[in-house]
Amino acid sequence: MELIIVWFLRMSVIYFVTGAVIGFGMLLWPGEAGYYIPIHVHLNLLGFMSMMIYGVGYHILPKFSGRHIFSPKIMTVQFWVANAGLIGMAVSWPFVIRDETFVSEAALITSAFLTMVSVVLFAINMLKTIKAM
Ligand code: HEM
Ligand code: HEM
Repeated sequence: MELIIVWFLRMSVIYFVTGAVIGFGMLLWPGEAGYYIPIHVHLNLLGFMSMMIYGVGYHILPKFSGRHIFSPKIMTVQFWVANAGLIGMAVSWPFVIRDETFVSEAALITSAFLTMVSVVLFAINMLKTIKAM
């Protein structure tokens, strides 16, 4: 398995543990939960679920056709963009909810934009890969 795919899977599991720990913290401190619901949700859904699907998809789908992924380079760029975007969202989101400043808002919008770009990169790479099947 390519190293970058292994890292998609590793990061997925790391986000899962982080999302679950935050969820558990939200149960223990319900008064604070409101600040953390968006990062709990997105660490679990964009981090664990999506990152797992990226890794498994990149590994399995080309195997069906005996071909390689359309662009390993896009896959590597997507890994970094997706992780930078998600970590940026997770760090900046509670600050935006707590006290919306220009800096926190700009950090959240920038990282959300990176996440969106990573989704588009995945879509392009997948569509081009399955088109070749
Ligand atoms: C140890 C595991 C988990 C714990 C303790 C936990 C705990 C929580 C808590 C306390 C809330 C806030 C509920 C509220 O007050 O509205 C919540 C919301 C949520 N959790 Fe989890 N969670 C866990 C795992 C997961 C996983 C694995 C996912 C998705 C794959 C997930 C998805 C969500 C979603 C989407 C919401 C928002 C629901 C809404 O819109 O109100 N959670 N979770
Ligand atoms: C570029 C990627 C994404 C961005 C920028 C984004 C942004 C947002 C925003 C702004 C909210 C509203 C939060 C609030 O103020 O309550 C939200 C809620 C939510 N998003 Fe996303 N999202 C993204 C991707 C996703 C994906 C891929 C999923 C699922 C697979 C997802 C699941 C949810 C859920 C379940 C909620 C409701 C959470 C709650 O109850 O508070 N999001 N998202």
